[in-house]
Amino acid sequence: MKSLFEENQINIGVGTWQLGMKGWGKDYSSTEAKESLEFLISKGIRFIDTAEIYGNGESERNVGEVLKNFKREQYFIATKIAGSNFKANKIRQRLKGSLERLNSEYIDLYQVHWEPSAYTNLKDSFKELENICREGLIRHIGVSNFSSEKLREISNYLKDCKVESNQIKYNIIERPIQKEINYLNENNIKIIAWSPLGQGFLTGKYMEKKPAGFIRRVNSLFRKESLEKYTPLLNYIKNKSQELNISPATLVLSYEIKKGVVPIPGFKNRKQAEDIIKVLTFNLDDQIVREIDKIAEPIIKRYSKMGFYPPYLPNFVVNIIIRWF
Ligand SMILES: NC(=O)c1ccc[n+]([C@@H]2O[C@H](COP(=O)([O-])OP(=O)(O)OC[C@H]3O[C@@H](n4cnc5c(N)ncnc54)[C@H](OP(=O)(O)O)[C@@H]3O)[C@@H](O)[C@H]2O)c1
Repeated sequence: MKSLFEENQINIGVGTWQLGMKGWGKDYSSTEAKESLEFLISKGIRFIDTAEIYGNGESERNVGEVLKNFKREQYFIATKIAGSNFKANKIRQRLKGSLERLNSEYIDLYQVHWEPSAYTNLKDSFKELENICREGLIRHIGVSNFSSEKLREISNYLKDCKVESNQIKYNIIERPIQKEINYLNENNIKIIAWSPLGQGFLTGKYMEKKPAGFIRRVNSLFRKESLEKYTPLLNYIKNKSQELNISPATLVLSYEIKKGVVPIPGFKNRKQAEDIIKVLTFNLDDQIVREIDKIAEPIIKRYSKMGFYPPYLPNFVVNIIIRWF
């Protein structure tokens, strides 16, 4: 059976954490962000990613409002259940909340946001997810921030369905160790790339200023040392995009598509949405991909730890922490 991505030839989508309206700064409004999403879908973006935790449901609500203006067959919704809510007796209730906020009768790709704690019975939870999938409330199953070790375990619990994607941090300078990428490729599990723009860092606009909002305060890319390390790459991106008459964001996202991953850039306004739309018709030359790789290879941060939370952290503690997102 073909996956959601193969069947529909999805090679790019958009992320909507910014529509949760928390932690990304006050330099944009929800109206502006919603209008930008409407523009994106009207111009051909079909894959929209959100999560129950973004703004405590606010992102799903805002996305749902925009989706009312489109026919159901025009888009694919991917949302996520928090790893700390992924318990067999809780999944249906969490899914119901997402469906209501998104004004939808089904979710195209339902993802487990991060590896659940050690107290979760993964077998029971995935069996329940498979039941829900059979009933048609969710069409495809995905995960996010899962290690190959955990994916191997899960494959024993799913009978009729398969994990079709793993949403992980992947961009020119941040990605998992090659062993993890190889496992996903060998098992036909699509990589959905979160932070494809390095939360704005790769566009070069933060060479002289700090980004707005608390979310990026913990991102080490925005520290002074990073700037020294990555300046040659940022300069290359800036000069090459000027030469090609595209924005740095369009260049960076086109690079990721060439790598076979599905980037889901976040956006706040019409200009950023336009840079994403440009990717749909722009074809990056292989020579440029090679040049970027040559500069980036020695400075890529390859991470081996996929999970966010220590496995023994109780779910109720994690649920308190994620209220901030
Ligand atoms: N599964 C997970 O654990 C996980 C984690 C994080 C994110 N995600 C998902 O992935 C999506 C994308 O990741 P992300 O939002 O962390 O990072 P990102 O897409 O790399 O960066 C988004 C930020 O970059 C800036 N930007 C966007 N377009 C730009 C352009 N054309 N020119 C210049 N700057 C631009 C904007 O912020 P400024 O304008 O303020 O600079 C925007 O908020 C999220 O929306 C979310 O759906 C998933």
